[in-house]
Amino acid sequence: MSERHLAVVVLAAGQGTRMKSTKPKVMHELAGLPLLGHVLTTANALGAAHVVPVVRHEKEAISAYITEFFPTAVIAEQDEIPGTGRAVECGLQALPNDFDGVIVVTSGDVPLLDVSTIETMLATHLDGGYAASVLTTFLDDPTGYGRILRSTDGEFLQIVEQKDASEQQRAINEVNAGVYVFDAKLLRNALAKVGTHNAQGEKYLTDAAAELLHEGHRVQAVSIDDEWLVAGINDRAQLSEVAAELNWRINRAWQLAGVTILDPNNTWIDVTVAIGQDAVILPGTYLQGITEIGAGAKIGPECVLVDTKVGEGATVIKTHATGSRIGDGASVGPFSYLRPGTDLGADGKIGTFVETKNAIIGAGSKVPHLSYVGDAEIGTNSNIGAGTIFANYDGVKKHRSTIGNDVRSGSHNVFVAPITIGDGAYTAAGTVVRRDVKPGDLGMNVAPQKNIADWVLTKREGTDAAKAAQAAREANSN
Ligand code: UD1
Ligand code: MG
Repeated sequence: MSERHLAVVVLAAGQGTRMKSTKPKVMHELAGLPLLGHVLTTANALGAAHVVPVVRHEKEAISAYITEFFPTAVIAEQDEIPGTGRAVECGLQALPNDFDGVIVVTSGDVPLLDVSTIETMLATHLDGGYAASVLTTFLDDPTGYGRILRSTDGEFLQIVEQKDASEQQRAINEVNAGVYVFDAKLLRNALAKVGTHNAQGEKYLTDAAAELLHEGHRVQAVSIDDEWLVAGINDRAQLSEVAAELNWRINRAWQLAGVTILDPNNTWIDVTVAIGQDAVILPGTYLQGITEIGAGAKIGPECVLVDTKVGEGATVIKTHATGSRIGDGASVGPFSYLRPGTDLGADGKIGTFVETKNAIIGAGSKVPHLSYVGDAEIGTNSNIGAGTIFANYDGVKKHRSTIGNDVRSGSHNVFVAPITIGDGAYTAAGTVVRRDVKPGDLGMNVAPQKNIADWVLTKREGTDAAKAAQAAREANSN
């Protein structure tokens, strides 16, 4: 995209006191991204020449995130003068001195604002020759927001913050969304004139709009109907409200794209997830991070899949998986725990009460019941018996196990790593496999079974077991 004569200043320097958190407000997560991640994604999509997040509180944590995920952004630092106006002033200082384009200001705590709303605002701003445009919406409960004051003929006059507002002004339900478009040069001049004489002792950005009007420039307040797009998050109650709304929208978008989601209120999908056509997502499922669900796969009920890729037509039931791959047509669960590095091949199976980690399980291979597979590579079409443990840890180091193709391992085996089992080998039930087994051999180390005659009858005389045994003997002798 070619760069536009546009800069986006993203406000992220506030303390976020109302979150009551050790974590900066804009780093709180919403559908898989920090609040700031949503806002910077939108800012980047505008194709601006400069994207300038402004930071101060917890700036190390926030800057580290920006540098990693939005490396083209130019981080500006706010000084000790508080307020959104000062934040923008500091942001402008990060731009080239002669920058005379358009400034879009967004807030790090208004995560659902979308590109098309900003584009529409930009278009009316430029067409109308405005010095400033302010985005507004109408709320049933406007508490906490800045109120929009208009003249009797409906023209924008000024924004009054909750804390500075009279009772009469607080009754106004048109609120400032915290999203603005400004002419860069006029904004610089206006901000220089804005003071801190208000209830919070802060330099308000909102006052720059009134200042520009006062100087005789044109200022518009544009309202939008979809109040969620401009919902600001100041505390955790608002965080959960916005999260529920965003989740509902994400689910709806997938439903309309051909994914069956039975209970969207009970299915949580991050913005970073991709889902193929005709996939079915059942209730109680969380799809998080960089998770991809293949076409026709059936997920749930009750799965948590994090950074996990599920192949086409696979089935995953009641499973927790992180950093894993599940092949086409494979089946996982119920009650499976796939830890990072699990890679199940096509048509493979990880079954009930099975934990895997760093385990490559080849196509058609099965680990059906009650097993732990760690640091292992299993070939194709092998079957691991019920209750098998890959003993990968010697107390100091982790070791790998290699199981060939078409292996049949007995129930209740322990593979003591490092170990290699050749193609087509068998191991007997109950074997502690300490030595490699060659292709086609049977590995066993089971001691011969010894039955001690009459042990129960003599050592457990009078018990129910002894009585049952006695009865069985009498029945047999008749
Ligand atoms: C602000 C607006 C209010 C609007 C609301 C919309 C002002 C004075 N008020 O109020 O009219 O209705 O947003 O959500 O602008 N920030 C800084 N530096 C600071 C203070 C804040 O960068 O010194 C950042 C915050 O990190 C946040 C954003 O600016 O991302 C808004 O700050 P916040 O304290 O939440 O302002 P509100 O009280 O919500
Ligand atoms: Mg706010």
